[in-house]
Amino acid sequence: MRKQIGSCLLELDVGDISLEQTDAIVNAANSALAGGGGVDGAIHRAAGPLPMQQTRERYPEGCPAGHAVVTDAGRLSARYIFHAVGPIWQGGRFQEADLLRSVYSECLRLARELNCQSIAFPAISTGAYGYPLDLATETALLQIIEDLRTWQQPAHVRCICFHEGILGAYGRVLERLIP
Ligand code: APR
Repeated sequence: MRKQIGSCLLELDVGDISLEQTDAIVNAANSALAGGGGVDGAIHRAAGPLPMQQTRERYPEGCPAGHAVVTDAGRLSARYIFHAVGPIWQGGRFQEADLLRSVYSECLRLARELNCQSIAFPAISTGAYGYPLDLATETALLQIIEDLRTWQQPAHVRCICFHEGILGAYGRVLERLIP
């Protein structure tokens, strides 16, 4: 599914985010930037050692939830990896929604600053971090749409869904937000 937002294209697709050809690829990282499974494992495996070397050198303190940091993309075809730290779901009363909105917004801000024309997001926090999928997709899409309407860049935003169930959740919300 794809929707036009002014001059920008917002697209939903099923796939493995480490194979994306966008200028920036977003990693679902942890606050220690220590690597992990899921998206984090797939991206570091595909990218090779460079991004991890750079996170250690540039961000020894890690990165708090709601924020993102940049490295080169190693062997990926992207120019950059944005290591984005989503919130751990704790029932919804610990600013999880604010932190999730912030992490999408930070990644889009980095994309604009680094002149990226395209960016691919995974469904941040919906795996190991336990964020309910329907809530996470709504929060993610609201923030992406708001930022694209405001800034009209990056030109192409892709939400990469690991399986059809995730695509279905995104699709239902997107159709409701932009009929
Ligand atoms: N491509 C796209 N999506 C993927 C991939 C992949 N290769 N692998 C998993 N997913 C999906 C999951 O199905 C889930 O919906 O991405 C979503 C996010 O899952 P996680 O990778 O577990 O990320 P998150 O919930 O943010 O948890 C982050 O997990 O791997 C660790 O180091 C990471 O501690 C951090 C935590």
